[in-house]
Amino acid sequence: MSDPRRAAPPATGTAGDFQIRKEDFRAFQDLIHRESGIFLAEHKQALLGGRLHARLRALGLTSYADYFKTVQKDESERIEMLDRISTNETHFFREPHQFEFLKTRVLPRWVADAEARQRSRTIRVWSAACSTGEEPYSIAMLLLDQLPPSEGWSIEILGTDLSTRVLQKAKDALWRIEKAEEIPTPYLKAFMLEGTGPEKGKMKAGPEIRSLVAFSRMNLNSRPYPVQGIFDIIFCRNVLIYFNAATKVNVVEELLSHLAPSGLLLLGHAESLHGLTERARSVGPTIYAPLQSTYFSGQKLPRLR
Ligand SMILES: C[S@@+](CC[C@H](N)C(=O)[O-])C[C@H]1O[C@@H](n2cnc3c(N)ncnc32)[C@H](O)[C@@H]1O
Repeated sequence: MSDPRRAAPPATGTAGDFQIRKEDFRAFQDLIHRESGIFLAEHKQALLGGRLHARLRALGLTSYADYFKTVQKDESERIEMLDRISTNETHFFREPHQFEFLKTRVLPRWVADAEARQRSRTIRVWSAACSTGEEPYSIAMLLLDQLPPSEGWSIEILGTDLSTRVLQKAKDALWRIEKAEEIPTPYLKAFMLEGTGPEKGKMKAGPEIRSLVAFSRMNLNSRPYPVQGIFDIIFCRNVLIYFNAATKVNVVEELLSHLAPSGLLLLGHAESLHGLTERARSVGPTIYAPLQSTYFSGQKLPRLR
């Protein structure tokens, strides 16, 4: 027989001296899903309470129900709340096989095509859900190294995210020095600076790569996307996992509408387009091309170096 003292756990998530009740969790769960597409499963109740707790304190509120009313009324508080609940883990050169694919299979092709006057020397890349910037700056390092402006290349990288907090960090382009370990040494030497003065012990992106990247807030769950033009590569990595199937379908359709016919869409290691669209096909693990593209149809491509 079960011990009655241990039977039903209370339907609350504790956060310091406050508790988030099941009905409050459901209200937040629904609002967060409608706003951002992020679906918080039932077992995330205590986690949500913990992440919002400091905000309640800062506003002098004593219940999650009161905080919910505030969030409903006040758009800037909704943005603040979404900042707190998003998971922002990221790394430089995450999913290294994708950077290798770009370096050895894609960029040589672009160079050859540009030399044959079959494509322009302007490259546009979008890092959707860019978090604190490691992803777009990794792209900047690879592209600047392989497609130098001295050979006529012009590189534009857009980084977008839902969270204003991470975007500010991305714009600051300042990380703890341990992050240097994630960057291949030649890139580190060429493109990163060691912080001095108040930035001592930190690593800063150098001006060459900073000048290539622009950031703005954009919600992948709010269509149409306010981005201009077509991109050669779209990185949308490690964010689809937080969305349900219907949201994933909408996001993927909208992203593909911004992808060049010869372009590529890159997803995270646990993500796939399987069952989401008929408009793209896999050309490598977690790497997709528009269906009509003959660009990466298995022909042998030159090695760069
Ligand atoms: C785990 S990080 C992934 C960062 C980077 N793409 C990578 O793979 O390293 C997920 C990012 O998605 C962002 N995010 C979550 N929901 C979003 C939405 N609806 N629109 C835009 N960004 C979103 C979060 O703020 C967070 O920075």
